Amino acid sequence: MASQGAFLFPTFLFFFLAGCRTPAAGVGNSTEFIREACGGTLYPQLCFSSLVGYAAVVQRSDVRLSQVASNVTLARVRSVSANVSATLAGAGAAAGPRLRAALRDCSEMLSDAAERAGQAAEALRAVESATGPALAWQVSNAMTWMSAALTDEDTCADWLAAPTAAGGGDSKAGEVYRRVREVEKHTSIALALIHKLGF
Ligand SMILES: *[C@@H]1O[C@H](CO)[C@@H](O)[C@H](O)[C@H]1NC(C)=O
Ligand SMILES: *[C@@H]1O[C@H](CO)[C@@H](O)[C@H](O)[C@H]1NC(C)=O
Ligand SMILES: *[C@@H]1O[C@H](CO)[C@@H](O)[C@H](O)[C@H]1NC(C)=O
Repeated sequence: MASQGAFLFPTFLFFFLAGCRTPAAGVGNSTEFIREACGGTLYPQLCFSSLVGYAAVVQRSDVRLSQVASNVTLARVRSVSANVSATLAGAGAAAGPRLRAALRDCSEMLSDAAERAGQAAEALRAVESATGPALAWQVSNAMTWMSAALTDEDTCADWLAAPTAAGGGDSKAGEVYRRVREVEKHTSIALALIHKLGF
């Protein structure tokens, strides 16, 4: 009798869990939604891997997806901006004047980029309650801010490229350079997802 009970319990558990699959399947749909939307960006895999964790928030909303992508971008720009400042502070005389100047200018550029990504995120929050021409206006604002952030990041990366390729006496600078290039990809993803809202 005891062994029969032990047999029945997992069977019951199986059906219980099977019955609970409905909400999980809803999340699965959201996952597919994110995968599909990411397919329209330049970096589909990075897009998917960085945003799929927010499936529950995104559901199947283009606006939410663009908000999440902008939030992720903002957090990453801030983190890289801190990296640049830390690298500048830690760079010894061996870093050379060229690399130090690039890091200093870059640090300013990236704070600017963070501010602009934040403004894009703010415009996207306004999108949620806007309709008609006001909606188009906010989407266009968000695109303007996010593409300005991308330009700032690109300028910073260009400044860092030559001195870090030359070694510059600082391997951390090379790592920071790679992180700036990576943040550009996240920004490009956010921009593509915002762009999608306008069409
Ligand atoms: C997923 O979405 C489709 C349509 O959007 C719906 O027909 C289907 O039932 C959903 N799947 C589940 C398991 O909820
Ligand atoms: C984006 O970040 C803001 C500020 O932290 C937060 O209030 C908002 O809920 C986030 N948006 C989404 C869609 O997660
Ligand atoms: C950049 O910042 C991140 C997060 O604060 C940290 O984990 C990483 O070690 C830093 N990298 C460099 C090269 O400073």
